[in-house]
Amino acid sequence: MFKYLKRPLLMAARSTVRSLSGSAATTSITSSGGGSLIEVNKALNGWEHKLKDAGVRDTEFNLKCIVSHVLQRKFNTVPDDFAQLKFNAEQLADFERFCEARCARMPLQHIIGEWDFMDITLKTAPTVFIPRPETEEFVRLVIENYKNVKHVDMLEVGCGSGAMSLSMLHALPQVDATAIERSKAATALAWENAKLLGLHQRFKVHNHTMEEDKYMPEELKDKQYDLIISNPPYVKTDEFQYLHPEVVVYENLNALDGGSDGLRVARLVFELACRHLRPGGKLWLELGNEHPPLVKTIMHLQYQGRLTFVDSYFDQYKRERFVQLEKV
Ligand SMILES: C[S@@+](CC[C@H](N)C(=O)[O-])C[C@H]1O[C@@H](n2cnc3c(N)ncnc32)[C@H](O)[C@@H]1O
Repeated sequence: MFKYLKRPLLMAARSTVRSLSGSAATTSITSSGGGSLIEVNKALNGWEHKLKDAGVRDTEFNLKCIVSHVLQRKFNTVPDDFAQLKFNAEQLADFERFCEARCARMPLQHIIGEWDFMDITLKTAPTVFIPRPETEEFVRLVIENYKNVKHVDMLEVGCGSGAMSLSMLHALPQVDATAIERSKAATALAWENAKLLGLHQRFKVHNHTMEEDKYMPEELKDKQYDLIISNPPYVKTDEFQYLHPEVVVYENLNALDGGSDGLRVARLVFELACRHLRPGGKLWLELGNEHPPLVKTIMHLQYQGRLTFVDSYFDQYKRERFVQLEKV
């Protein structure tokens, strides 16, 4: 099924998931008395080729991220030529283990365990969707539209690590956010991130799978919101074969699979919005680039008198990706 994923890579990747948090792999220096140091430039020897052979793109960036992480330094404080930088034996072992993991196509975000999203840093966790750069564009757009609104009761459907809701809360003090999320791991991670960022007093997250006739958890069944946001799974099932190993092996397919036309979960969000948006309330969605015209047609044919299509927006690559709908 996974066209670009060779079997040895798949097996290596799975065993890497199991071993990354375990004991250190091989080291090429032996530390006698704990004082040995090796220049980072020497430790790098051969890894660029190994990463390229494994199909990793932008190897310089990957190596600099890993070196920064091992040295526990901010990325932008590490010189590009790594001059004067040294690893001790333990750091060298970590570096090699992380490079092995990257060769098995484990995403950098999982190796490092955290990632910056807009102005916040989020913890990441295996199987929880890694927030994407285009989602930052989406959130900026929504923030721009709500920065002058006095108070906003917001709901997010499928919050993953909490990236979208927590960025909204960070940028706009007048927002209160509730999220629903089907994955237990993601629900726990979003709550942990909210606490780490000190945003938990304006954030609630419920482990709930939105389904037909059970759109919301029991305790929220009568709630109404001013704004609903969602980046639902929207990859068409038959497009999975074209995804990179980082996605297919390490991400939860429930976070990606949008069914045959990519809109299976989005259609449930439309129904949820009809029931839980106040009149005039807005639904903002991040979708695939073929979807906005389809959504416009669906609104016209199936949602007259309930939801209207307000507008669609393009990402930085000029792909039509974001839509705004309004509850009538
Ligand atoms: C594409 S990810 C987006 C995560 C996050 N909003 C972000 O942008 O980083 C979709 C999320 O929706 C969740 N999800 C999928 N189907 C769902 C459903 N029926 N009910 C609740 N959550 C769902 C997935 O578990 C996943 O965390």
